[in-house]
Amino acid sequence: MFITFEGLEGSGKTSQIPILDSYLREAEYSVFCTREPGGTPIGDQIREVLLTRENTAMHQHTEILLFQASRSQLVEEVIRPRLKKGEIVLCDRYADSTIAYQGYGLEVDLAQVRTIVDFATGGLKPDLTLFLEVDVEAGLQRRNQHGDVNRLDVKNLDYYRRVRAGYYEMMKAEPERWEIIDANKPSNEVQTALREIVLARLKENGRVG
Ligand SMILES: Nc1ncnc2c1ncn2[C@@H]1O[C@H](COP(=O)(O)OP(=O)(O)O)[C@@H](O)[C@H]1O
Ligand SMILES: [Mg+2]
Repeated sequence: MFITFEGLEGSGKTSQIPILDSYLREAEYSVFCTREPGGTPIGDQIREVLLTRENTAMHQHTEILLFQASRSQLVEEVIRPRLKKGEIVLCDRYADSTIAYQGYGLEVDLAQVRTIVDFATGGLKPDLTLFLEVDVEAGLQRRNQHGDVNRLDVKNLDYYRRVRAGYYEMMKAEPERWEIIDANKPSNEVQTALREIVLARLKENGRVG
């Protein structure tokens, strides 16, 4: 089962995933966690290029292609082999992030972006995508308190509002794949909600740990 986590900055993806991972392991599920961009040695090098603040000259199309290069490597080197072994793969961001951030956010032609994303994933889609819903301002505030701001973080509020609207378009188009979690709530409540949804899905699929 392939589960991805999406949502704006500060929605809690990176802090919630390891806690969910430990919980599922304790329930004796076989779980593997990864993240984008990166997750492989080649992907981590691409991640550096994408996040380095000095890379201000990066063209939008270069950015899109670098994300896909990292993703393609992750899918083939890590995600597909793990899924084949029957593991549950939890991924911090995936293809939907490109559609939301580069497609809707940067307003790059959506049909073209989708084609490139499909090429990179080889058509591998998540079984379940958890959308951590947070208000744009609240999320950015959480992230800013955190400190380190990278190249991708330096964007204005309108950009993030387009990203958020983009996510909602995608959820409307494929409601069965998505679950929305209210991530404005305290972290422990978010974790409880995530566990309930994931356990229910695993049981639906006949997986008992
Ligand atoms: N539900 C929450 N309530 C308050 N602060 C939170 C919550 N979830 C995450 N945070 C804090 O917000 C910051 C960003 O969280 P993070 O998990 O990195 O989000 P993301 O990976 O979605 O950008 C961290 O400092 C984290 O501790
Ligand atoms: Mg994160």
